[in-house]
Amino acid sequence: MLFQAGSSDRGRRFGATHAECIYLNATTIGETARLVASTRALAVAAGRDPQHIKFMPRIIPVVGETEKAAAAKYHDFVDACDPEAALIVLQQWAGIDLRGSDPDDSVDFETLELTSSNSQHTGDFLRRIARDGQRFTVKDLLRSYAFGGAGNVVSGTPAQIVDRMESYVDGADVDGFNIAYMIRSKSVDEFIELVVPELRRRGRLSPPAGPTLRERLFGEGAVLPADHPGHAAQPLPPSTHLEPAAHTWPL
Ligand SMILES: Cc1cc2nc3c(=O)[nH]c(=O)nc-3n(C[C@H](O)[C@H](O)[C@H](O)COP(=O)(O)O)c2cc1C
Repeated sequence: MLFQAGSSDRGRRFGATHAECIYLNATTIGETARLVASTRALAVAAGRDPQHIKFMPRIIPVVGETEKAAAAKYHDFVDACDPEAALIVLQQWAGIDLRGSDPDDSVDFETLELTSSNSQHTGDFLRRIARDGQRFTVKDLLRSYAFGGAGNVVSGTPAQIVDRMESYVDGADVDGFNIAYMIRSKSVDEFIELVVPELRRRGRLSPPAGPTLRERLFGEGAVLPADHPGHAAQPLPPSTHLEPAAHTWPL
């Protein structure tokens, strides 16, 4: 299957044309809704059914049997984070270089130069919300990058986590989630043990609809649908079947 992650203008155009599933950082419901709607519109412009793309924002669940237990766990995770490593992640990922800044200083996105980075969208998004009045100190940014890479951290009981997931499905038109872990594989086990039963109870997990992942996700065929540019690609003729060679490189 064709998964893509990238939310800049160029990234969205690429995803709208080629992706079957798109990962994105679910920073806020409003921003996620904006990215999903604009990418679905670009898919229509590219001649595709907009429902032939599944959007899966990343969430980082920190689940506990009680709100207090979840909060304590979240606290422990943040405590164990390394601010030095967060500085590097922030610089590499978002192009925001805060080395040498005072941790309690406000970040001034107007004068800050965004260097080239892995994600164009991250820096652009932070600058945009700063213009809308959101204030960050250096420490605020380091905290969110140290824990979960500025993804959507959801801490709480299973019901609270599913409430938040539902708010993204209903409010931002997403189709599923890219569920990130803090501790491999404990976080995944906890999600399965505690959150999955709540998702089932609310009828939010449908039974698999076919043997391949594509059939399960779309309930349609096992190959790329007719509106995808890759659909026209023909399999190689049978004469291209490869036989073992006498030597490994035809020199
Ligand atoms: C939630 C999320 C998941 C990602 N998953 C992958 C991945 O599985 N493989 C990969 O190569 N890059 C992954 N990336 C990195 C992006 O593809 C990469 O940073 C991209 O250049 C961002 O493009 P943009 O500038 O258009 O936002 C992921 C990024 C995000 C935000």
